[in-house]
Amino acid sequence: STQSNSYETITVETRDAVTLITLNRPQALNALNSKVLEELIDAFAAYQADESQLCAVLTGSGDKAFAAGADIKEMSEKAAADFYLDDFFSPWTSEIVKKTRKPWIAAVNGFALGGGCELAMMADFIIASENAKFGQPEINLGVAPGMGGSQRLTRAIGKSKSMEMCLTGRMMGAEEAERSNLVARVVPHDSLIDEALKTAATIASKPPMAVIANKEMVNSAFEMTLDQGLIVERRIFQILTASEDKKEGMEAFIEKREGKWKGR
Ligand code: CAA
Repeated sequence: STQSNSYETITVETRDAVTLITLNRPQALNALNSKVLEELIDAFAAYQADESQLCAVLTGSGDKAFAAGADIKEMSEKAAADFYLDDFFSPWTSEIVKKTRKPWIAAVNGFALGGGCELAMMADFIIASENAKFGQPEINLGVAPGMGGSQRLTRAIGKSKSMEMCLTGRMMGAEEAERSNLVARVVPHDSLIDEALKTAATIASKPPMAVIANKEMVNSAFEMTLDQGLIVERRIFQILTASEDKKEGMEAFIEKREGKWKGR
């Protein structure tokens, strides 16, 4: 495991082909301020650029929180014009979600509230500890979700539950989150990071170009009509058939051995 400690609000470690990024403001329940955003943008760009890294995990430090939201203290000092002119919250999607074509998993270890829930939902999927609590409590602050909650939560769990969560601000526990399809899997609290890293290592063992292609296809289901999505799927499938890893993967199957991936 190699560590890079040049950040103030996050830590980044790599273990073989897996990058572990940890939000590291436990005294503020890992609340997301401008510095966290700046450092996460940098860390995700580094992950995307590093050819040796094939899957990432994002988690929160401390035992209580993944992230308890956007930083309320920072937001309380801003005027509407600041939010509007800076297009506040825009880079979370434009710089992190859109530019990270490689997969990443949110390992939610406690509170994932407001922007914390929204950040977890930006991941390709969520693995939750039994202690995870999800919510969009912005209504209690006189506002509403601003980092995608009204859209991504509704797509994940449907209108009725999403509306109830946003209007009441109530939290949803791990068991309900799994039942509602917000999370892929719930694991015991103490094994969360091991399980997330193990899942990431499994993904990292797959042919890397096919991994990116699968991610792009599934994401297309949220962006377009069924007809358009099916065209995207077929075209990407057809491109993959020209890859060296397709030739290797099918040969390896027929020869009953493990494939050796080139990533192209
Ligand atoms: N922003 C800034 N600081 C926060 C924070 C946040 N979102 N959430 C917690 N903290 C800070 C607290 O102020 C406190 O700091 P001090 O010790 O300096 O007072 C510290 O973290 C510990 O928090 P608590 O003492 O409140 O811990 P608790 O165990 O009693 O309660 C909690 C935990 C229920 C999660 C509670 O902290 C809480 O309700 N937090 C706010 C949750 C919230 O409203 N999130 C939405 C933010 S708005 C948003 O995210 C907008 C958007 O759509 C992007």
